[in-house]
Amino acid sequence: MATAAFHTTSPSPSRSAHLTRRSPSLPRFHSVRCSYAAKSPTLTNADPSPAFRSLTAFAPATVANLGPGFDFLGCAVGGGLGDTVTVSVDPAVAPGTLSITDISGCPAASRLNRDPRWNCAGIAGIAAMRMLGVRSVGLSLSLHKGLPLGSGLGSSAASASAAALAVNELFGGRLSPDELVLAGLESEKKVSGYHADNVGPCILGGFVLIRSYDPFEIIKLEFPADRDIYFVLVSPEFEAPTKKMREALPANITMKDHVRNSSQAAALVAAVVQGNVRVLGSALAADGIVEPRRAPLIPGMVSVKKAAMDAGAFGCTISGAGPTAVAVVDDEEKGNKIASRMVEAFLRDGNLQASATIAKLDRVGARVIGSSLE
Ligand code: HSE
Repeated sequence: MATAAFHTTSPSPSRSAHLTRRSPSLPRFHSVRCSYAAKSPTLTNADPSPAFRSLTAFAPATVANLGPGFDFLGCAVGGGLGDTVTVSVDPAVAPGTLSITDISGCPAASRLNRDPRWNCAGIAGIAAMRMLGVRSVGLSLSLHKGLPLGSGLGSSAASASAAALAVNELFGGRLSPDELVLAGLESEKKVSGYHADNVGPCILGGFVLIRSYDPFEIIKLEFPADRDIYFVLVSPEFEAPTKKMREALPANITMKDHVRNSSQAAALVAAVVQGNVRVLGSALAADGIVEPRRAPLIPGMVSVKKAAMDAGAFGCTISGAGPTAVAVVDDEEKGNKIASRMVEAFLRDGNLQASATIAKLDRVGARVIGSSLE
């Protein structure tokens, strides 16, 4: 794929080739109210010309829910975990349409549908083309899955976010980040449910609160720049499809559960903006509604959480719909020790092999990592 004019950069945020986005200092709460992008007639009528022949974007893994924030809180995590999408102008593809030419990466990637209408990257890429009003150019898309499927690390959202960003930047970056979230949300709606707690942080980076779905409103929560937080991500060899894990949830909850979970979610938001990792961890571990229903479906999860807490984690819960367990700590060395205890517990009590990653917060979100004019 590399040509003389193809410039690549590391997916690492510190070296990211941010072509168009993000102001250096956002307020601690950055609220974005989104009405559907098709209401922007200038965009839908635009039929823009491509600014590049080919462009590659990377989108990071995400931890959704953060315990009590089911469907409304999430954050992006580093550690090099994520998906990569390249989109190219392709005269062989019918104008205004998108074709998937290649899917590579994790072993299960071969199971993914190559029909763009049933592929996360395809759905979001097409949504971005429609929002931009692309009619005269056809695109080919290639997807590299760095994230395993059904892992609880926002695999589908990473594909969707990378595709939406890549299409947008290929045409000069006319859509705003919140419109890109809506493009990604179209994909989530089709494959796992209408929730933006993966795709929101995946596009925006950092911690994100989905305040409302109708009208759609998303708030970026600024974790202080001078503080560190480490996520211990332990993924067992077990698949937990989001649809199935959502079916395990109750349709109704008691007032007592509502009060308890709301107060913990509010404490978590306060802890994020204060940079208080200890309080953040204890709030993350205090979900009394979703985690108790899902943990028994993941072999070993209950004792993995106990092992993390006994080893000094500030908190531990299920990442997204699982099966990955996420623990929170403020020190990388401590994170390594906690990771070993969690991996041992998955094997001992769940009979599952597991792998661990210690990741920092990804404050940047989906980003361009390469482009070509030729
Ligand atoms: N909030 C969603 C769920 C995230 O827990 O079902 C799925 O990744």
